[in-house]
Amino acid sequence: MKILAIETSCDETAIAILDCEGDEQSAHFRILGNTLLSQIEIHKEYGGVFPALAKREHAKNLVPILEAALEEAELLHEDTQVISEETRAKISEILAREPGLTETFFEFISECEPPEIDAIAVTAGPGLEPALWVGINFAKALALIWNKPLIAVNHMEGHIVAALIKEPANTTPFETRFNLVIDNVEMPVLALLISGGHTELVLMKEWLQYELIGATRDDAVGEAFDKVARMLGLPYPGGPEVSRLAEESRRETSDTLFKLPRPMLHDTTCDFSFAGLKTAVLYLLKTRSDLNEREKQSIAHEFENAVTDVLWKKTSRALGETGAQTLVIGGGVSANTHIRRIFTEKIKNENSEVSLRIPSAALTTDNAIMIALAGFYRAQRKEFKTDILANGNLPLA
Ligand code: KG4
Ligand code: ZN
Repeated sequence: MKILAIETSCDETAIAILDCEGDEQSAHFRILGNTLLSQIEIHKEYGGVFPALAKREHAKNLVPILEAALEEAELLHEDTQVISEETRAKISEILAREPGLTETFFEFISECEPPEIDAIAVTAGPGLEPALWVGINFAKALALIWNKPLIAVNHMEGHIVAALIKEPANTTPFETRFNLVIDNVEMPVLALLISGGHTELVLMKEWLQYELIGATRDDAVGEAFDKVARMLGLPYPGGPEVSRLAEESRRETSDTLFKLPRPMLHDTTCDFSFAGLKTAVLYLLKTRSDLNEREKQSIAHEFENAVTDVLWKKTSRALGETGAQTLVIGGGVSANTHIRRIFTEKIKNENSEVSLRIPSAALTTDNAIMIALAGFYRAQRKEFKTDILANGNLPLA
């Protein structure tokens, strides 16, 4: 089946079209079209994602990237469409809160044949609600005009499923006509989800059934990276910047000039806390206003070490408690080189019976391919929706 997926939960507007085949035992996916417009440059000025601006940008971007994705997938066929007054009225109502979108929507849709797709998947949450709504309303309008079923996808499920992909080395899955495979997933799967809004350990005992094993009690890891970056005078998004500094320090020495705490390292739960670590960096910087570049690199190095120590310790505890056979790491922070390296080493040396799956760097940050993948598994279960509501805090479990 061909799934068109839409992702607008944060600062990336993304649409992908995948041809999907198979089942939970073994599934094959072919990327037919994949487009993504990042708003990072726009939000940089504000030092973080500004929801009203994200909403406006999504509304502006959706039609052009839909057109590009359809074209790439060779599913764009121009043909004048007659839209009845009744349909026009219904769509205007659906898009009433997306002022920038209505006009471009009608303009595009009245010149384009309904494409040969089988369903439309869209992120329903978690994320920024104003941003989520644009994608959802757009998906609803398309489903209505093209008469296609709708699927609501949990963004975090997208990150988990994307991490399950088996990829040949040295390829980028963003290439069109690229084939992805998900098979032989040994249950239970433990997922460490680390992003700008989430830090969770989730157990998938069976396909798409989740149990929350641990979560952050305050800041998410990505949030801590972004805040520490800001303290160090680095631009948004801070994760990759802090990581770059830390790697520079590591190239010089494995020692760090400062010591930071590892919050909740020895507590007996699988929960996390990162606010104290962030505050420790703040105090350190307050007492030292004249830091040179080498010292800043060393703070980033120590901060990344502290985060990784805590993430590994808690994951290792959760692996022991749950008997998970597969470990996946998903979410934007899983792009982090040091975390990927340490987890790979630790699994090899300490938990070699566990199979570790980390998505390729291109699939770790937000994209629509992961929404199509999760949408496929939901479609297999016939979980089609007639209406979808945005939920900024949509839980997995
Ligand atoms: O999953 P994602 O793209 O968006 C959310 O759903 O939150 O994650 C974004 C987060 C940001 O906080 C960003 O700083 C962080 O992922 N991030 C990283 C790296 N790349 C992105 N954090 C650490 N190291 C990285 N290389
Ligand atoms: Zn994400």
